Amino acid sequence: MSAPVIDIEGLTVEARLADRSQVILHELDLEVGQGEVIGVVGESGSGKTTLVRSLVGLLDKNVKVVDGSVSLHGNRVLAPGLDKTKAVRGREVGVVFQDSARSLDPLFKVKTQLKEVLAAHRGDLSRAEMTDRMTEVLRRMKVGDPARVLDSYPHHLSGGLAQRVAIALALVTGPRVVLADECTTALDVTTQAEVVALFRELVDDSQVALVFVTHNILLAADICDRVVVMYAGQAVETGPTGRVLRAPHHPYTTGLLESVPGWGGADTFQGIPGSAPRVSTDTVGCRFADRCPYAAADCRAADVPWSIAPDAGGYRCLHPLALAGRSEPR
Ligand SMILES: Nc1ncnc2c1ncn2[C@@H]1O[C@H](COP(=O)(O)OP(=O)(O)O)[C@@H](O)[C@H]1O
Ligand code: SF4
Ligand SMILES: [Mg+2]
Repeated sequence: MSAPVIDIEGLTVEARLADRSQVILHELDLEVGQGEVIGVVGESGSGKTTLVRSLVGLLDKNVKVVDGSVSLHGNRVLAPGLDKTKAVRGREVGVVFQDSARSLDPLFKVKTQLKEVLAAHRGDLSRAEMTDRMTEVLRRMKVGDPARVLDSYPHHLSGGLAQRVAIALALVTGPRVVLADECTTALDVTTQAEVVALFRELVDDSQVALVFVTHNILLAADICDRVVVMYAGQAVETGPTGRVLRAPHHPYTTGLLESVPGWGGADTFQGIPGSAPRVSTDTVGCRFADRCPYAAADCRAADVPWSIAPDAGGYRCLHPLALAGRSEPR
């Protein structure tokens, strides 16, 4: 793989609360190459949105990077006491959130909103070039009649169309990195599949680096080259999507797969009992231990180190062999 477009090393992010600090991300490593789609998968509360927000300088005031770094194209943009992410948001990095369609301004036509983004980040373009670009980005989003949509107010658009416009807002500047945080979650299944296909096409045609965040591991499977499974702020498993789905090493990944209705058989809908712990700065041991059917004494004694898998992915589990015989979907 060529030099990574996004290089996250040991990123640790904490929230300061009145009486304690909560660890939201812990020693997260992630590389995304040009033309690559990485899926970030995990239950609600695992830190996915915090990861996206930290990459674009949108962390809440009480949330700080305490260790590690993020580099874009080899330039360090985020580390403790350093935050250059605002300078790259919009131009270099496009971001689409779950509620992006709803946050379109109801008072302005689509063309006005697209133009405003272009004026802010692409002052180098002429008016004619801006208009061409707006039309092109809507075409890319498979909007049938771009001229009509450009001239519409957001509330005149269907939910699916409004979400495409929201994605177009993130893409119109021509960013090399796109972050999509649950951006299809509010859509019906058919529209969801269409949007995922559009993203795949975008990556294949334009070689952007895409971070596709979702709680739905099977949706990630449709589009991602590699996945990172997150639990309680840590990466617990990474690897090529096919392998992670076929033969997960971490019990949490198995649990996520088994909680998908119909995965490997109609009777497989088991879910994972319990919920993720809140993690403080002195939490020790495997964060999944309270919910893990294979937990042993050593799992709780010390933090679990990262192990490298033969496919260059990895996992954070002391007893991956405990999964023997359960790793294939039944
Ligand atoms: N500003 C904040 N202050 C305190 N806790 C926060 C703050 N922002 C996020 N958190 C906590 O961080 C954890 C991860 O949240 P989030 O990144 O939104 O996860 P996800 O997107 O995976 O659902 C949650 O437990 C959430 O409550
Ligand atoms: S380290 Fe232990 S508790 Fe944690 S996932 Fe592995 S077997 Fe389960
Ligand atoms: Mg989220």
